Amino acid sequence: MKVLVATDKPFAKEAVDGIREIVEKAGYELALLEKYGDKGKLIDAVKDADALIVRSDKVTAEVIEAAGKLKVVVRAGAGYDNVDLAAASAKGIVVMNTPGQNSNAVAELAVGMMVFMARNQFNPGTGHEISGKTLGIHAYGHVGRIVGRYGKALGMKVLAFDPYVSDKSVFKCDDVWAVDSVEELYSKSDYVSLHIPATEQTKKSIGYDLLTKMPKGATLVNTARKEVIDEEGLAKALAERTDLKYITDIAADMQGVLNEKFGTRVFATPKKMGAETAEANINAGLAAARQIVEFFTSGDTRFQVNK
Ligand code: 3PG
Repeated sequence: MKVLVATDKPFAKEAVDGIREIVEKAGYELALLEKYGDKGKLIDAVKDADALIVRSDKVTAEVIEAAGKLKVVVRAGAGYDNVDLAAASAKGIVVMNTPGQNSNAVAELAVGMMVFMARNQFNPGTGHEISGKTLGIHAYGHVGRIVGRYGKALGMKVLAFDPYVSDKSVFKCDDVWAVDSVEELYSKSDYVSLHIPATEQTKKSIGYDLLTKMPKGATLVNTARKEVIDEEGLAKALAERTDLKYITDIAADMQGVLNEKFGTRVFATPKKMGAETAEANINAGLAAARQIVEFFTSGDTRFQVNK
């Protein structure tokens, strides 16, 4: 049995060592493909793999087609928009994620991003404190919930919008104010932290209308996905509302234009780094390896996302 770890953005060494230990202890073989760049190398490597562990690596229909022996794909992380679920399902391949395992790293980055923008990207001059401001959490999943907790610890008033949370007592339990609409969230929040996945419903859903509802001096923080932003709408809102700011961990397609036009009111990390901590790599990587072993030994599909 061969488990392929294909990570163009490699895991920390400790994570790879831990994955190897779990895989080899189960009697399987581990193959490692890191920083491969060209998708042809992934297509080649996946040919004889029974299981695949990836991060944001694109598992396209072409990759799945080439993987004649593949039975399970684990996306070591939360968002699985990089995996062609329909192609996997058509071949009976189980796709899983590792929810919650890298959430703290992403949440910490979101908080750091708020402070960075409140302090003029660490340029000289008078900035602001985030304490006392209102933080809106857009989607109250694993990451959103931690960001909310950190926001409260920093003295922020925390609002949340998430129609998919079925147990509304969660908000009460966290002492977070659940608002009834996305418009209400944006109109009341000095900072909005985005945590929605990229789906057909959410793509390009954050744009001019929502952004221009935000209070004076507000900042949108995106550690989720670039696809959820309507970039033209964002640019229009930033042009009209010279007080608005945008910071993202996933550079916009038009990031160069945004940087040129809006200077220090916008910022994008050079490469997505939300989950780039040793801790997150270890948590997500090892969880992925364990899930594969449990899948093969007991048929456990608890974290399957293509049921
Ligand atoms: C996720 O969906 O888990 C995060 O976006 C992290 O993605 P990464 O593994 O590409 O860093």
